[in-house]
Amino acid sequence: MNTTLITGASSGIGEEFARQLARRGENLLLTARSADKLAALGEELSRTHKIDAQFVALDLTERDAPQKLFDETTRRGMEVETLINNAGFGSMGDFTEFDVERDVAMIDLNITALVALAHLYLPAMRERRRGAVINVASTAAFQPVPYMATYAATKAFVLSFSEALSEENRVYGVKVLALCPGTTDTNFFAAAHGKQPPKNITQTPAEVVETALAALARNKSHVVSGWGNFLLTEAVRFVPRSLTTRVAARVVRGRHQLTDGNSKPK
Ligand SMILES: NC(=O)c1ccc[n+]([C@@H]2O[C@H](COP(=O)([O-])OP(=O)(O)OC[C@H]3O[C@@H](n4cnc5c(N)ncnc54)[C@H](OP(=O)(O)O)[C@@H]3O)[C@@H](O)[C@H]2O)c1
Repeated sequence: MNTTLITGASSGIGEEFARQLARRGENLLLTARSADKLAALGEELSRTHKIDAQFVALDLTERDAPQKLFDETTRRGMEVETLINNAGFGSMGDFTEFDVERDVAMIDLNITALVALAHLYLPAMRERRRGAVINVASTAAFQPVPYMATYAATKAFVLSFSEALSEENRVYGVKVLALCPGTTDTNFFAAAHGKQPPKNITQTPAEVVETALAALARNKSHVVSGWGNFLLTEAVRFVPRSLTTRVAARVVRGRHQLTDGNSKPK
């Protein structure tokens, strides 16, 4: 059975991928840690769109989780035609105050699990000479972001990795796309212990997913969601990195009421 596998499908951008792809009639395998949310979403989408939407609840920071997921898709007779590596989280604040376990788990989820899943599912896509991988990066991939140092670095990895894989796999008829959303209205900020940004600077998950699916149809290797975000990611190429990094520090400090040791929170 042809299936689209979506990680981080229990909320935000991943849930929206599930909703838009279900409308297109795609069968889905939803994964995240929240079994109850996945079960409810899968049931709703199967009933409403007459598709097969199943779920597997697991924690992708565990080293054997990608292999378990792969084995489960094999056991269920699923051919994963599209892999959407969306699960991810961030942290906001002073790096020295982050919990080391959580920071390393971020790398495990945002990078290690994403790479492992690409390893596991790409060979069969190549053999079928058909398939797609969407890796969710971020506009934070384009420059260092102080107070989100580890997070931005994981997303820089995802962007570079995806563009390279896109080129390697093009000749096999397999597409690889890095999706780079800017600020999007999801649970991300609560999970990152940051402040929810104002609506006037956020996109909706629906806008982000529409952008991704349009870019995939156009065989793009990366796409930035939103014109304002696109212009910002282009502009940083013409400004010294030291300056863009300092400006980013001010913006994140101001928006999330952080201090730099010399200043008071705004
Ligand atoms: N929102 C933004 O402004 C923004 C901007 C750029 C990029 N992004 C990226 O977009 C992607 C989706 O995030 P979102 O904004 O939609 O945030 P979200 O609503 O917090 O969704 C994150 C998803 O990841 C899952 N997840 C978290 N930890 C996990 C783990 N250990 N194992 C398996 N699944 C896990 C969560 O489900 P459970 O908690 O149920 O496990 C949830 O489904 C992330 O990669 C994020 O970095 C977001």
